[in-house]
Amino acid sequence: MADKLEQVYINFQKELGAIKDLKSLQDFEVKYLGRKGELTKILRGISELSAEEKKLIGEKANNLKNEMAGIIAAKKSEFQAEKYSGLAQSEKIDVTVPYSRRVGHIHPISKIRIELEQLFRSMGFMVLDGPQLESDWYNFEALNIPEHHPARDMQDTFYLADNAEWVLRTHTSPVQVRAMQKYGAPLRAIVPGRAFRNEATDASHEHTFYQIEGLMIDKDISIANLVAVMKELLSGIFQRDIEVRLRPGYFPFVEPGFELDIKCLICAGKGCSVCKHNGWVELLPCGLVHPNVLKYGGIDPKKWTGFAFGLGLDRLVMMRYGIDDIRYFHSGDLRFLEQF
Ligand code: PHE
Repeated sequence: MADKLEQVYINFQKELGAIKDLKSLQDFEVKYLGRKGELTKILRGISELSAEEKKLIGEKANNLKNEMAGIIAAKKSEFQAEKYSGLAQSEKIDVTVPYSRRVGHIHPISKIRIELEQLFRSMGFMVLDGPQLESDWYNFEALNIPEHHPARDMQDTFYLADNAEWVLRTHTSPVQVRAMQKYGAPLRAIVPGRAFRNEATDASHEHTFYQIEGLMIDKDISIANLVAVMKELLSGIFQRDIEVRLRPGYFPFVEPGFELDIKCLICAGKGCSVCKHNGWVELLPCGLVHPNVLKYGGIDPKKWTGFAFGLGLDRLVMMRYGIDDIRYFHSGDLRFLEQF
């Protein structure tokens, strides 16, 4: 019996050398220590032995069993460690590989909008927002443009098909009245945002475009204040002297009203598609707030006066970067966008 045990151990040692992975180790374990394994077979025969031998062989067999189990366990952890380090090898990340993922950036319109917001904040203006789907009342009535007034034809409007009380705002001016109602006077605010017009698109017209509305209400506001702020705005954006001209303009919500034009920066005044071949670009309609609008906003026109302007943000960006077609802005064309 003792010889048999000896033989099992010798075989065990011999075969162990050939075990190279977890799978064959498992089979090996079953072969020697399993229920029908080599060692178990021997242990079964123990009952036939004398009491003395039983004790002797039993002890030997147990020691052997423990030793073999220990060896197998050690091998197992060895193989497991190899397995995981193998995984780590294949999943290893080479941090020295050059990183070249493409990242997006801010759209040129947003970039200038943010610059202007900072500029106006520094002059004490709030930056406000307003609804793009606007009521007829705020978009027209409260701006001194009653129903059937021919001035409505100045702005080709998208009305809601089933409810003409609502429009896609044709300008950011309705927020003038909203701001007056909410904050009262004195008031300094700008309103950057989208506006919509039902027009055929060309190099300088889009159905969806951006404006920045400006409004300042205080005691004794005059055209001089208006011009000063407009100059500040233009020199802030272009960082150089810009040739401007002020001519009378008609907007029912200002009186007097002006068009502030700048010399076309695309063609330096020679005439191109952006300036409609006249050398000047309409950039800043503006004027002193009409008393009726102040009244609609709940402000007493006898006590307060103010100026307002409506900057065409897309055109300003076009002038600043020399972009000759407004339709690029919404085209999503990366060849265009990646230049900024
Ligand atoms: N809201 C006018 C437009 O879009 C522009 C404007 C704003 C004119 C403020 C005067 C004062 O045409």
